[in-house]
Amino acid sequence: MTDTLSELIKARGPIRRIGVVGMGYVGTPAAALFADLPEIKEVIGFERGSPVSEEKVATLNRGECPLKGEEPGLAELIKKVVAAGTFRATGDYAPVTDLDAVTISVQTPFRNKKDLIPDYTPLKSALRSVGEHLTEGTLVVVESTVTPGTTVGMAREILEEASGLVAGEGFALAHAPERVMVGRLLKNIKEHDRCVGGIDEASTARAVELYAPLLTAGHVIPMTATAAEVTKTAENTFRDLQIAAANQLALYCEAMGVNFYEVRTGIASLKGEGITRAILWPGAGVGGHCLTKDTYHLERGVRAPGAGALDFPADRESLYTLARGINDFMPHHMLTLTGSALEQADKDLDGAKIALLGWAFIADSDDARESPSETYYEAATAAGAEVRVHDPWVRHADEAEISDDLEAVLSGADAVALFTAHREYRSLDPERVKTLCGCEHPAVIDGRNLIAPDPWIEAGFSYRGIGRGDRNTHTLR
Ligand SMILES: NC(=O)c1ccc[n+]([C@@H]2O[C@H](COP(=O)([O-])OP(=O)(O)OC[C@H]3O[C@@H](n4cnc5c(N)ncnc54)[C@H](O)[C@@H]3O)[C@@H](O)[C@H]2O)c1
Repeated sequence: MTDTLSELIKARGPIRRIGVVGMGYVGTPAAALFADLPEIKEVIGFERGSPVSEEKVATLNRGECPLKGEEPGLAELIKKVVAAGTFRATGDYAPVTDLDAVTISVQTPFRNKKDLIPDYTPLKSALRSVGEHLTEGTLVVVESTVTPGTTVGMAREILEEASGLVAGEGFALAHAPERVMVGRLLKNIKEHDRCVGGIDEASTARAVELYAPLLTAGHVIPMTATAAEVTKTAENTFRDLQIAAANQLALYCEAMGVNFYEVRTGIASLKGEGITRAILWPGAGVGGHCLTKDTYHLERGVRAPGAGALDFPADRESLYTLARGINDFMPHHMLTLTGSALEQADKDLDGAKIALLGWAFIADSDDARESPSETYYEAATAAGAEVRVHDPWVRHADEAEISDDLEAVLSGADAVALFTAHREYRSLDPERVKTLCGCEHPAVIDGRNLIAPDPWIEAGFSYRGIGRGDRNTHTLR
């Protein structure tokens, strides 16, 4: 089977024309980097036919970056490759016919996390659109994070049905998950090792050929498609688990009156001779499209009909979903801290004015998907508080009005809740914030260990911080 495919690939020659489906946080930088490679003649970015997508296509074709927030080098690179004529975006899939390789990086959320039901509508539609125009010898790579088994299962089926070709014979098929973080997209693509897994040897080899030129520091790690799917979902699951461990310890430290950060330094000091006790940071919650869902892709994979028997007590919750629950609890804990800080100043959550600082889930970015700020906003509003939101990057949210006027949001606030480590919040001056709040004892709740508590306490604030058991019970000055 692979012999036929190898011959088709050989007849096609080296990869010169590439398609990237999905012009989001993952697809956009990847497309720009491919288009900047000297040997690549053309890269086409594909978007779906919605008004937002049409706007994205127009923005890209003007040589502008559709992503806001700090993304070093991306705007310049898009401008460069559009001007050079090696990159363009479109909603028309017909050009797939002439491409040597097509990568797919559309969103893969969950419709129902409890019952492990993903929303594969965007992925299915992208696969179908690519399949309808697929020609012999083309490589298709699923880059989206998917449930283990999806590439050899659903992706293969849809592509075969839509194209009339057979995967592994008529076209190559692989999974090569992205390992990027917003804020460092280009750097991560070039410098991280890349796991590349084909459904057969010829597919893996062709996918390695696609990605190797992109890597300036990282290496390609070849594996099977399913192993690559498990690698991706497991690495995010582990990160979420480690954050949950830090969050749980932070809650314990608060209860026992100690400073989590001191404890963390102590634990991390035990190292050497293969020992590492490094632990992550606690915070107001975990957000983003990836960490909030990838655990469920892994859980779904091990329960899929094709998977083997799992020897684990049926009535015991998975360590991984338990960790998700701990992280999901943190914005609720922020609300508990807010209530306690307000109470110390003889105020109640009901009727309080809260300035919520940061709607993006991660610092200095406009990415607000699954943001813990939203959970807090909803819970605080339900408790009767009036919540005003500031964010320097996020301009729009369905759930709340977002302002970029920090002083206006702080004016008259009874409580200031710090949710995102945006750079401008680090330099907040307690005296100035107190003047804006206009009361003797405003509350400040630090969800990201952004501010040193003592100057705020000295200024008269009622302070609370995640993990700050040593300061959360201070007396008012
Ligand atoms: N954001 C990250 O940092 C990151 C990191 C690693 C992996 N991933 C994974 O990569 C995938 C994409 O994530 P993202 O953050 O780029 O998502 P995104 O929402 O920013 O981008 C997805 C894009 O795909 C487009 N799209 C949807 N359906 C389409 C279709 N049928 N045809 C063409 N375009 C279509 C959307 O309009 C959108 O622009 C997800 O599976 C995610 O889990 C994301």
